[in-house]
Amino acid sequence: MATVVAVFSSLLMCSMFFAIGNSLSLDYYDKSCPGAESAITNAVKQGTIKDKTVPAALLRMHFHDCFVRGCDASVLLDSVGKNTSEKAGPPNLSLHAFFVIDNAKKEVEALCPGVVSCADVLALAARDVVVLSGGPTWDVPKGRKDGRTSIANETRQLPAPVFNLSQLQQSFSQRGLSVEDLVALSGGHTIGFSHCSSFQNRIHNFDITHDIDPSLQQSFAASLRSICPAHNKVKNAGVNMNPSPTTFDNTYYKLILQGKSLFSSDQALVTSSTAKKLVSKFAGSQEEFFKAFVKSMIKMSSLTGGQEVRKNCRVVN
Ligand code: HEM
Ligand SMILES: *[C@@H]1O[C@H](CO)[C@@H](O)[C@H](O)[C@H]1NC(C)=O
Ligand SMILES: *[C@@H]1O[C@H](CO)[C@@H](O)[C@H](O)[C@H]1NC(C)=O
Ligand SMILES: *[C@@H]1O[C@H](CO)[C@@H](O)[C@H](O)[C@H]1NC(C)=O
Ligand SMILES: *[C@@H]1O[C@H](CO)[C@@H](O)[C@H](O)[C@H]1NC(C)=O
Repeated sequence: MATVVAVFSSLLMCSMFFAIGNSLSLDYYDKSCPGAESAITNAVKQGTIKDKTVPAALLRMHFHDCFVRGCDASVLLDSVGKNTSEKAGPPNLSLHAFFVIDNAKKEVEALCPGVVSCADVLALAARDVVVLSGGPTWDVPKGRKDGRTSIANETRQLPAPVFNLSQLQQSFSQRGLSVEDLVALSGGHTIGFSHCSSFQNRIHNFDITHDIDPSLQQSFAASLRSICPAHNKVKNAGVNMNPSPTTFDNTYYKLILQGKSLFSSDQALVTSSTAKKLVSKFAGSQEEFFKAFVKSMIKMSSLTGGQEVRKNCRVVN
């Protein structure tokens, strides 16, 4: 029996950007490629053993994929000549670990050629890295198709770290995602690394009256400034997202309440009472955070958009 997952009808109505064409199901590969999920999990584990920054990179990669043209693996396509792909677009800082997806895809192609889409490989890998980092697990609906288009310029559609709450809400609601989804998914920032450029607006020339964002806790701001001076010459300088950057927990929300979040877009989550209540709830209960995160990840990763099952995730068929 096909366990067809109702792909949120509200999302169908609200989504301005994506036609939701593929219906997803939990047992999509049960007959056509029963070994797919464990092969992908294994490739993700091997990749993480080689490089402990892999989990954060793959979680962010899936988010970037879903927010541009839906979760259609457009983020994985390489540029072709002058046609530069999303990989070459501006917010590409720290997008890496493509080798893990290449390896996972190779494994599933060996098991069942031409069956498992790159978009599904990435969605499953994003779940696996959360689990590997100590976060919650969930069943991933599958059946996404891969797109044939990836345009560097379209990465402008991604929310920026300088966004305020209304800009963030607009970006999410255009994709059928709510304020609760925004607050829960931002919890992805509990793992990983950020370059100085992503938060420099808060620590130098913040506004006419403040050099430093007054919502930043003072000693935290000072430490960020020492690592990221105004005319930073250190290539790739930056900081971990938090003191436990490889552990998926609710530290992110606790830090926001202490004025120790990195981005304006993180701090923005306490600028309305609705959003702030959610931040406080997740700071107070890791269980509530995990429940909400799973629900919102399934929603985000159900924004589909592709047409084919690519043979090689870097090039269209
Ligand atoms: C709400 C809007 C969001 C904004 C404005 C935003 C912005 C950013 C920025 C600027 C970075 C740092 C990039 C760098 O300097 O290297 C980053 C990193 C990251 N983001 Fe987000 N993000 C958002 C939502 C999300 C979501 C929904 C997820 C996943 C559920 C996510 C997961 C991550 C992860 C895991 C990293 C660390 C990447 C690494 O270490 O390689 N972000 N984000
Ligand atoms: C570049 O993009 C254009 C328009 O999307 C397309 O017609 C053309 O075939 C592409 N060129 C290559 C080399 O892929
Ligand atoms: C990232 O984007 C910048 C700006 O568009 C570009 O110069 C750079 O080559 C890109 N990096 C990668 C790895 O594609
Ligand atoms: C990129 O997109 C913007 C609109 O979002 C447009 O104004 C601009 O001309 C585009 N640039 C290129 C190089 O296509
Ligand atoms: C958010 O930023 C936009 C664009 O800069 C601005 O028009 C809007 O007034 C800002 N909203 C708030 C509540 O600050």
